[in-house]
Amino acid sequence: MSMPTLPVIDLDVFRANPSSPSALVESKKAAEALIAYGALLVHDSRVSEDDNSTFLDMIEDYFAQPQEILQEDERPELSYQVGVTLENTEKPKCAVHEPCLDVIARLDPAERPLDITAHNPDPKCRFFWRMGEMPPYDTEFPGLNAPNVVPKAAHLRDRWASTMEKWGSSMKNAVEELAEMCAIGLGLPRETFREAGKYGPHLLAPTASDLVKYGSKDTILAGFHTDLNFLTIHGRSRYPGLNIWARNTGKRIAVKFPPTGRYLLVQAGKQLEHLSGGLIKAGFHEVVVNDATIEAIKRRSSEHPDRPLIRISSTFFWHLSSDFDLAPIPSLDELARKTNADEITVGGVIVEDRSLYPPMKVGQQVQNELKHIALMA
Ligand SMILES: [Fe+2]
Repeated sequence: MSMPTLPVIDLDVFRANPSSPSALVESKKAAEALIAYGALLVHDSRVSEDDNSTFLDMIEDYFAQPQEILQEDERPELSYQVGVTLENTEKPKCAVHEPCLDVIARLDPAERPLDITAHNPDPKCRFFWRMGEMPPYDTEFPGLNAPNVVPKAAHLRDRWASTMEKWGSSMKNAVEELAEMCAIGLGLPRETFREAGKYGPHLLAPTASDLVKYGSKDTILAGFHTDLNFLTIHGRSRYPGLNIWARNTGKRIAVKFPPTGRYLLVQAGKQLEHLSGGLIKAGFHEVVVNDATIEAIKRRSSEHPDRPLIRISSTFFWHLSSDFDLAPIPSLDELARKTNADEITVGGVIVEDRSLYPPMKVGQQVQNELKHIALMA
């Protein structure tokens, strides 16, 4: 089996001297990777594997609690945008969304995701921990800027906020610097994206799948979808299973982190697609139980028989500010027009549609997307 891999972008090179020629080369590489793949790996020597481990351990402990305890942390009245979302709440938009099913139909059958038409909702749980700065102005979208939930259990409550903040900050720093690199790589002022997301309702969003219940081969943990935010960044999971689709070829890529070292995975979301006029497309992805997942389950059960068998993904969703006016940036829009015709396709099919990117507030775009995935009435 051929194993396509993702470009690796070195954040250290950029941080050492953002205006150096080598930083510019690296920045262009980042922009090109997002245009071609909708995803990339970031090397950041500040990211600590110990912090990731501490974080994963705490989230495993959290989701190992009984259902009734977890339910106390649900906030449906806030569209689940803080606190916990339990399994079988979120539907992959694709299962109910015509254009998305079309994308799947047009993929080479060998490259298609697992069939989601009979699958919904997702058997995954999630916790949203807000990491945005409150805007210093009146926001039109206060519901998406609500206070965080801290679990009540004694073994969690004292370490919760500090652990979330520590891991979340390292992901937030990395993704904000990567956003600067992307802006430079696209020929824009360095702060373009970072400023647009200064008051974004960023979310540290660890996702949990119970591998005792959902650990058999070809179980869909998260069905084929794209993310609604600007950029998503993940640390290394203890269990493989994330597949992404390269936007230029429609080929499925099983995400593999280099075996050692400090790496993060970044994916483009819908807000970046919108702002770039489709030059960078939100990356499709799924999480499934495959042979590598099952191998990892066996290894983990024998090495750590006392630990809960829960797959945690240490996801962080970086958003644009809710009140930001979302409209394609003219220079990117022009580039999208020039290149889409022959290069930017999904599974060999051009998916360009100018009407996909009408101007709107970011908060409106988020609400539209949440309705599709059944998190908002
Ligand atoms: Fe996702």
